[in-house]
Formats: sequence, structure tokens, C-alpha cells
Amino acid sequence: MSASRVGRASLAKAKVPVPRAGSRIPAKKPGSQSQPALLKRTNPHLVNLKTEPPASTSASSRVSPKSLAFFGVGVLLVGIYSGSLYATYKQEVKEARTLQVPDDVSDRYNDTATVYDSEVDMSERLMRMGKRRKELIKLAHGDVLEISCGTGRNMEYYEFGQRRGIDEKGRAKIYGCRTVTFIDLSPQMVDIARQKFEQLYPNYEKNGRSLAAAVLFRVEDAKDVQPVGLSSEKNGTAPIPPSRPYFDTIVQTMGICSMPDPIATLRHLGTITEPQNGRILLLEHGRSYYDWLNRILDNLAPAHADKHGCWWNRDIGEIVRQSGLEVVEEKRWHLGTTWRYVLRVKGEAEGK
Ligand SMILES: C[S@@+](CC[C@H](N)C(=O)[O-])C[C@H]1O[C@@H](n2cnc3c(N)ncnc32)[C@H](O)[C@@H]1O
Repeated sequence: MSASRVGRASLAKAKVPVPRAGSRIPAKKPGSQSQPALLKRTNPHLVNLKTEPPASTSASSRVSPKSLAFFGVGVLLVGIYSGSLYATYKQEVKEARTLQVPDDVSDRYNDTATVYDSEVDMSERLMRMGKRRKELIKLAHGDVLEISCGTGRNMEYYEFGQRRGIDEKGRAKIYGCRTVTFIDLSPQMVDIARQKFEQLYPNYEKNGRSLAAAVLFRVEDAKDVQPVGLSSEKNGTAPIPPSRPYFDTIVQTMGICSMPDPIATLRHLGTITEPQNGRILLLEHGRSYYDWLNRILDNLAPAHADKHGCWWNRDIGEIVRQSGLEVVEEKRWHLGTTWRYVLRVKGEAEGK
């Protein structure tokens, strides 16, 4: 017996009128009884079912007292937190006004080198700076100089060694780095960068034979740096003169905030950048698009610079403009406080 036949047989037993196959179920007349007889007789649990009045839609009956209490406590806590933040901000601004901070705060990194990475890790992760660094370093090629290298936070993104490839327009192109020179003013920062490199590339031989690129670390001021040849660190011989007086790529990330004269430094970098195809790549932080945020940065700048060695309220766009370098590309993120630039020496046409 099929399932439908079993159903029909039980309904017949219960004396329920069963429509014959193919017959129509009569439409219910308006005003007829709301509880159908079928439900009453076949399912005793449904006998006492009553039609509920429609639920009230007023806000008081929808939000339970418990939720209201939670909401109230939440608002109170946020209020207390914001209040204490504001009080701290006011106090810090007051203190910042009394500070005498020199323009040159770059020596602070000698003391903070060992904690630098842990201090910036969280905020960089939240701002997805790893992605920004990676995208920038991907553009580095040939003989590369990274100034203000700090603890080497860009190190993992370099392609050490050159290879032939095809660019997005289908033209032959050389990718990767032939040499990379990392420099920083702080010996402590350079030490950490060097250790990081040795951990990343434990099999690297001095002068880069196994890595297919020469990698150098130097303690040096970016405003005086010159291309030098590779010295053999192993046997301490004098540097071999450079094959040419230029770098193909100069990289700096988060460095403009720390140097006393960033305009002069950028101008100097222009003199050691390969004039035709050379590029200066910057990823910096500074002033925002928004006045309210700039006011906060300005108010807290002396205290921040004194502690961290960084003037976070600098107008990066204006510094680049005054450097006289040509802007190939400019991008900004994070309310305009993160700036990325691709620059070249002015007036030099590519591929001449
Ligand atoms: C905020 S840290 C940035 C470090 C790293 N580039 C990064 O992206 O995390 C600034 C660095 O610039 C270095 N610095 C400041 N003035 C410099 C100068 N005139 N020449 C070379 N390095 C400098 C400091 O020692 C410090 O390591």
C-alpha cells in the first residue's frame, strides 16, 4: 500500500470526509469557523489551541529589561572610558607644551632599538602595513639602497638576486636585486637588522654568493651616503669602487619623520639615483587629510618625538614637493596619514 493510501484509510476510519482523487477542496467561506474540524478530531493536542492576539509592536515590549540594563551599563562604560581618554589627552597636551624638544630626535632609536619591533607590531598589523611594505619592495630592482632601514622590517620582502621576466606590457625586464645596501644612523638598529637577515638567510655567504645578491649593512647618515663598492667583509680588504655612482632604487619607509632635514636628504638622494630609470620609493607617515586629526597630531607631537624619535605631524607631500623630485605616483591611506611615493629625478625621461 502506498503512503497516501494509508493516510486515506486512517482518515476514513476517523470519519473525516476525504476528497476523492482529482476532486477540489472547497474554498472556505468568509466568516466560517476558524478551527477546522479536521484538526480537532485527528490531533487531540491541537484541541485547545486558541488564536493568539497579535503581538504588541511597541518598543517597551520588544526590548527586555535585561537587555536594557546591559545597554545602559555598556553606554556608561564607554562614557567612562572616553572621559578618561580625554582627560589623559588633555594632560599630555599640557605636558607637551612645556617640553623643549630639539628638531633632531634621531638619537632616540639607540635606546629603543631592542623594543622597536614589539612597539610597532600591533599597530602595523591592524593597519595592514605588511601588505603596503611588500607592494613597495616588489618595485625594488638592480642596485638597491635602503636608508633608515631600522630593524629591517622590509627585509623579508626583497627578491635577492636578479632574473629575467616580462613586464605587464609584454616587454623583457630584469626583476630582483643585484645588491642591497641597508644603512641607518643608529648602530643598534643596524645590528638588529643584520641579525634579522642572518636568521632569515642562515646559509647566506658573505658577499652573497649563495643568495645571488650582495647584501651590505652600514651605519651611515642618509644625507651623506654614497654608492661604494662591495668590500670583502671576510678578509677585510678595502671596498671595491662601485661600477657606477648610482643606485637603481632607493627605498625608505617611515624615515622622513625621524630625520632633522628630510628635504636636504631627499635632494641628496636625487643625486645618487640612476638618472633615467632610477626610482626613489617612499612609504611614510605624517599629516592627515583631516584638520581634527592634524590638531591631535600637532598637540601631541613634542611628547611623541621626545619619546619615540619621530615627528608624526610632518607634511610629507610638502617635503616631497620641496625636494624637487618628480612624483611618478602618490597614494594615501589611513585618513591620509600613510603616504606612498614613487619618485624620480626631475626631467629625466624614462628609457632614454
Ligand atoms: C621610525 S624608524 C623606521 C625604521 C624602518 N625603516 C621601518 O620602516 O620600520 C626611523 C629610522 O630612521 C633612522 N634615521 C633617522 N635619521 C637618519 C639619518 N639621517 N640617516 C639614516 N637613518 C636615520 C633611525 O635611526 C631609525 O632607525
